[in-house]
Amino acid sequence: MSDTAACSPELPCLARWVSTSPEATAAMAARIGAELRAGDVILLAGDLGSGKTHFARALIQSRQAEHGTAEDVPSPSFTLVQTYHAGDLEIWHCDLYRLTGADDALELGLEEAFSDALCLIEWPDRLAGCWPEGAAWLVFSHDPETPDRRGVSLHMADDTGLAARLARCLEAG
Ligand SMILES: Nc1ncnc2c1ncn2[C@@H]1O[C@H](COP(=O)(O)OP(=O)(O)OP(=O)(O)O)[C@@H](O)[C@H]1O
Ligand SMILES: [Mg+2]
Repeated sequence: MSDTAACSPELPCLARWVSTSPEATAAMAARIGAELRAGDVILLAGDLGSGKTHFARALIQSRQAEHGTAEDVPSPSFTLVQTYHAGDLEIWHCDLYRLTGADDALELGLEEAFSDALCLIEWPDRLAGCWPEGAAWLVFSHDPETPDRRGVSLHMADDTGLAARLARCLEAG
């Protein structure tokens, strides 16, 4: 498995993990989700079908479960943005695949969401460099010969507490 998805090249890879099932990815999403709060931005990169929506859905539903709520989390590939609440936390789940430029993406109101909400962004390459400082890239990769395996690598600046916590989640598997 290789990281073929676009990712800001100057960011170091802080951790890698291999998922062997959709359930394992959902459990990791819940562990990572527990570390996140408003103002955190997770950029979910990787090819079509590599597991970005699966990860985001599990993360959102795990945060809602803490508050006794549960919503369907459809892929935002047509609506571009779906918003959720988990207690006081607002969560934005975006899929920018159909957009062609950063201006279109930012018109969705993303800049405000980057500071006020927890943002989970699929196809972040569409932001073309307009990634918020401190964002975490999770890059998903898969190999058609091992259909239930997914590689997940974490790329972000390594000087924050969030970076250390997310790296620990992946390292602990
Ligand atoms: N280990 C795994 N982790 C995550 N998903 C897996 C895994 N193994 C198999 N799958 C399956 O792979 C599919 C991933 O689909 P998903 O919609 O999450 O991809 P995506 O990356 O969001 O694609 P797109 O770029 O089209 O939005 C799901 O059907 C999921 O059940
Ligand atoms: Mg998706």
